[in-house]
Amino acid sequence: MSCFDRIRNNIVTNVNSWDDNRKETAYKTLNGGEAILKNQDELDRYVFAFGKMHQAKLNCALNAIDDLNEISKKEISIIDYGCGQGIGSIVLIDYLNALSLDFSISNIKLIEPSGIALYMAKEYIQSCLNIDNMELINSGLNEVKADSLKTNDKDITFHIFSNILDIKLIYENMIKSTTGVNYVVCVSPDYWSGNQKLDEFIGYFRDNLSDKKFIIISERGATIDNPSNPDKPWKNYEKVFKLAI
Ligand SMILES: C[S@@+](CC[C@H](N)C(=O)[O-])C[C@H]1O[C@@H](n2cnc3c(N)ncnc32)[C@H](O)[C@@H]1O
Repeated sequence: MSCFDRIRNNIVTNVNSWDDNRKETAYKTLNGGEAILKNQDELDRYVFAFGKMHQAKLNCALNAIDDLNEISKKEISIIDYGCGQGIGSIVLIDYLNALSLDFSISNIKLIEPSGIALYMAKEYIQSCLNIDNMELINSGLNEVKADSLKTNDKDITFHIFSNILDIKLIYENMIKSTTGVNYVVCVSPDYWSGNQKLDEFIGYFRDNLSDKKFIIISERGATIDNPSNPDKPWKNYEKVFKLAI
């Protein structure tokens, strides 16, 4: 079983033991998944409600990368922007582990304004992976300094934007701080104003980097089967690109 499925199954068992009022109260505070979460009930309710969908959307986007063999015998780093409880990092780790490539993870950087979500992200990731080198940045992306996003030439870095659209101002800092081989994986719900934000984000890299440094991998709106409600498939708007700087 994948690490994410194990974590979510435990949460599902817990949430299913709640009465309807507790479930409903926690659900309302999520604001469709956009709220900055404040307590454990909200965190659990979030994973219960959105976890499977986010997992499926990230897997769909990661599937578009066809040269992942290059991580073999390499060290990788992860930067998870607006990481919440770390679903993006955990699904990425599960995905790479399933490829049975010989790689190691040298560093994970988690950026998230909710202190309690950030704490759980660290706990969950450490339950999947033996890693000491995790850097926690408890703030919004707008407050993150370029220096905090530095990548290195040795590692292959995965930049994960899982359902986080408040990204307008981060691209300048990313370009300043990024070197080496990088995959940028963005997934979001498919709706007009959200799509515009992602289009603008990727447009900045396209406009400022040569074709050799900015390589597009996938730009699509995809429909993904929703096993618990086949009439309501999940909508994914994904952008995946490679930066070789
Ligand atoms: C829809 S959730 C996505 C969480 C996580 N990436 C996932 O896939 O489950 C949006 C996340 O963005 C965080 N957030 C809200 N405003 C933010 C900001 N200005 N900078 C960074 N993260 C922010 C919220 O706290 C929340 O964890």
